[in-house]
Amino acid sequence: MLGEKITARAHTNIALVKYWGKENEQLIIPANSSLSLTLDEFYTDTSVQFAESLNSDEITLNGNSVTDDKITKFMDIIRKKTNINTFARIESTNHVPTSAGLASSASAYAALAAAGSKAAGLNLSEKDLSRLARRGSGSATRSIFGGFAAWNKGTDDESSYGYSIEDPVKMDINMIAIILDNQPKKISSRKGMKISIETSPYYQSWIQQTTADFQTIKDAIKENDFTTLGKTAELNAMRMHSLTLSSNPSYLYINADSLEVINMVKELRENGVECYYTMDAGPNVKIICQNDKISEITDKLSDKFSSNQIKVSGPGEGIKYL
Ligand code: DP6
Repeated sequence: MLGEKITARAHTNIALVKYWGKENEQLIIPANSSLSLTLDEFYTDTSVQFAESLNSDEITLNGNSVTDDKITKFMDIIRKKTNINTFARIESTNHVPTSAGLASSASAYAALAAAGSKAAGLNLSEKDLSRLARRGSGSATRSIFGGFAAWNKGTDDESSYGYSIEDPVKMDINMIAIILDNQPKKISSRKGMKISIETSPYYQSWIQQTTADFQTIKDAIKENDFTTLGKTAELNAMRMHSLTLSSNPSYLYINADSLEVINMVKELRENGVECYYTMDAGPNVKIICQNDKISEITDKLSDKFSSNQIKVSGPGEGIKYL
């Protein structure tokens, strides 16, 4: 029924095989398939309620009233699908422990797709929800699902969707996020990946390599092979970051603190503590490790970083209505 307030929760995800470039910017069709782990600790709760009395969408983010063209455009997609001309009240809260830096468009648009479509009277399958979430932000396609999830590249709106690879996750796997900077990024992922696909001379090699990485990680999940998964995820992340360096103009998300964490991971590994690093479109580093290594890694990190910069998370669940 239109007018009912619907609330949905979506968790953020960290890609093990990164998405970096669009074949179709308007529909957000990626240039390669990607694969991620949904995280338990970081999530977004969003409620949507359509109301005849409104003259525009009323958006509240973390308690503050905002105007956001991307959100309004996303709501227009839902309105068009359902022939609704009514605006909505949208309230969204990011649950990212204290100093944030990990608030992501992935959980935001997955939660908005779920709450918005249901509030508009749609009852979408998870696959169709993932296609809708994709229109807000590519990485949101995977946040509909818990555990290991993938985004099938596809070639059009119909064939570009997310799916579950394994949920609940059987592998012993965690991510330790080190929050080095919680400022908005200088070059958004949207802008950065556009520069890379248009100007990096290595872009075609990236597509070939990342397609192979996708298969390697998929097989590693099936075989419960943490080592292959970790090694490949680390390589894939650095392959993505080398696209930023080889773009024109070149840009860089890795800063001095990120490098320090990367070196710590290498040192830990040399001392027999198995762990791997990954990074997205910002300086924060995420360390991939198993349960019995968490305390050694966080001990080492606390030589340099405060405890509220270090967040440990296990696999999280898929979209749910509250
Ligand atoms: C590095 O999903 O934020 O995190 O589709 O333009 O909204 P848009 O981009 P976004 O890009 C995510 C990039 C990444 C890798 C990944 O999550 O796969």
